[in-house]
Order: sequence, then C-alpha cells, then structure tokens
Amino acid sequence: MLNTQLRLARRPSGEAKSTDFSVTREAVPSPENGQVTVRAEYISIDPSVRTHLNAGQSYRAMVGIGDIVDVPVAGEVVASAHPGFISGDKVTGMLGTQEYAVVDGATLTKVDVSLAPLPSWLGGLGLTGLTAYFGFEEVGKPKPGETVVVTAASGAVGSVAGQIARIKGARAVGICGSDEKCRWLTEDLGFDAAVNYRSPDLYRDLKEATPNRVDVVFDNVGGPLLDTLFRRLGMRGRVIICGATSQYNEGEIYGPKNYLALATLRARMEGFIIFDYVDRYDAARREMAGWMKQGLLGFRENIVEGTVTDYPTVLHRLYQGENVGKMVMRVVPSKP
Ligand SMILES: NC(=O)c1ccc[n+]([C@@H]2O[C@H](COP(=O)([O-])OP(=O)(O)OC[C@H]3O[C@@H](n4cnc5c(N)ncnc54)[C@H](OP(=O)(O)O)[C@@H]3O)[C@@H](O)[C@H]2O)c1
Repeated sequence: MLNTQLRLARRPSGEAKSTDFSVTREAVPSPENGQVTVRAEYISIDPSVRTHLNAGQSYRAMVGIGDIVDVPVAGEVVASAHPGFISGDKVTGMLGTQEYAVVDGATLTKVDVSLAPLPSWLGGLGLTGLTAYFGFEEVGKPKPGETVVVTAASGAVGSVAGQIARIKGARAVGICGSDEKCRWLTEDLGFDAAVNYRSPDLYRDLKEATPNRVDVVFDNVGGPLLDTLFRRLGMRGRVIICGATSQYNEGEIYGPKNYLALATLRARMEGFIIFDYVDRYDAARREMAGWMKQGLLGFRENIVEGTVTDYPTVLHRLYQGENVGKMVMRVVPSKP
C-alpha cells in the first residue's frame, strides 16, 4: 500500500496556497504493538489550521517544515495491533493530511455510525459541535429569554451554536455572509433572525434583529464585525471568543476598538479551547444525541471530493465562505 502525504514546505504568507506544500509517497508500514492503521475517508476542513502554519496565535504546536499537517480525520481501520480495534471499525483522530496513518490506538475515538454518519463525527458530534456545546456550557451560559448572537452562523460551529442557544430557551440571531445562508438559518435551523454582514447598513440590520440588545455573543469571526457587536451588547453581556476566522490570514490582527463597552456594561469577554474538556466529550455527545432524537438538533455537512493534495484548494473554498455547515473533504485516492 502506498501512502500519499501532503507536507508543509514553507511558511505561508497570507492564505496558504498549494505551492506552500509538497507531496510525498511512501509505503504504509505494518502497525506495531498497540498501533492501528487507518485509511482516511474524510478530512476535516478547519479555518484554524492556518494559525498552526506560522508562529504566533495558535493554541497548538506549530506544524514543522516537512511535516504532515495535523488535522482531524475520520476513517476506517484497515489493520490493527491494538486489542480495542479490528479492521472495519470507524474512527476519528488527528491523523493529518495523508491517505493512511499508523498511530497509537489510544489516540483514536471509535465512532458509532448508527447514531450519525461518519462525516458528522468531524462536525456536529466531532470537535466543531463540541466547541459550540462547551462555549455555552463553560463561558456564555445563555438563559431563557436572553438574546444570543452567533457569527459565522452558517458554519460548522455556528450552525450548532445557534441551535443550542434555542434549546437553552434563548433567542438565536445568526450573522453570516449571504442572504441564502440567512434563509437556511431561519427556515431550516429555527434561528429567530439572521443578518447578512455584507449588508450596506449592517448596524441598522443588527439593531432590528436584536431589539432587546445582546446578552451573549458567540464569536467565530473577530475583526470589525466583533467591534460592531460591542455596540449592541447589553448589561452584563458575555462575549465568547471562540475564534477569529476573518483574521487568520492577516499579518496583523485587528483588535476591537469598542472594548470599553465591557466596562460601561459590566460585561465580559472570555475565550476557551475545546481540548480542555476532553474528559467530558462523551457526556456532551450523549446530551447532544438526545437533542437529535427529539428533533431539536441537526447537522449538515458540506462534502467536497478531493485527493489529499487538493487540501489547500478546499481550505481556500472554506475561506471564500462556500460552505454551508461543516466542510469536509471526502478523500479520493491519488493517482500514482
Ligand atoms: N475555541 C476552540 O476551541 C475552537 C474549536 C474549533 C473551532 N474554533 C473556531 O471556530 C470558528 C468557526 O470554525 P468552523 O470550523 O465552524 O468554520 P466555519 O464557520 O464552518 O467556516 C468558516 C466560515 O467563516 C466565514 N468567513 C470566512 N472568512 C470570513 C471573513 N473574512 N469574515 C467573516 N466571515 C468569514 C465563512 O462564512 P460566511 O459566508 O458567513 O462568510 C465561512 O463559511 C473558527 O474561528 C475556528 O477557529 C474554535
């Protein structure tokens, strides 16, 4: 078996391009004691990967030059020297931009595809869905009747966050980049209102959508949009800093100018990182699965086909806002 791998060749400037990567092909070794060989079926496409390619803002180790890019993957066990796995098991793990990974079985999560299809284990029941869940549980804590605004609301984290806000009894307002996405949020996902941030009068639209101001901001975008949201924050508001997709490709990050609203409003802004809650993932998934069964929570994956070497092109499509829901790449075999 030959393994095609995509490796970082140089530190990108601005958006990562195909020319920032190199391709290697090598034989897949047999798994040693405790190891498992996984064939990648779906690779997760995440905006934050850009922050791991340069030094600076990332919460994870920087990808080394010549290294495979460390990204979440869902796939099938094809060989196992670990007692907990057999061929045919479906698993997820940080397996990187390659067709096959030989890893310590302890780093893998076995998934139940009778509960949700494999791509959902990279999305709603994977890290992005869990991020929405813990952002509210640990930081935002929305209460019934409060207004929650979610940015990048039609994306992987945002689409789940808005639905959870509704489950908690809050009014969910989504912000995203097209009228079509806004319609999806209100008509299919049950958001109470949605605003297109490309509107010529964003503040007016936001004001209309949040007549009682905003109690919780679940921010995935950062930059000037977050600044505008400070102007709609209410007393004792909570701003959850989940991510800042608008800033990941920028050399210099735009910091909020309107932050003094936090003092005036006795409000607070707090970040979090999903990996701090690993020991609670299973319990969170059980609660989310219950909401799914009650018809309160649903997931959508935006599946794009590509070879491992297409990864940078698909990432570019995410930054262009082409995705609705969680973007994943279905891995098709590379031609030798
Ligand atoms: N804290 C944590 O532990 C944690 C864990 C996972 C993810 N995150 C963060 O959560 C955020 C969302 O991640 P995701 O995987 O769910 O991605 P996503 O929202 O599915 O995809 C990115 C979306 O961002 C929007 N976007 C792209 N460029 C933009 C720009 N310049 N300005 C405004 N919007 C832009 C696009 O939608 P539009 O059409 O609406 O522009 C695009 O669909 C990211 O910031 C990520 O880093 C944090």
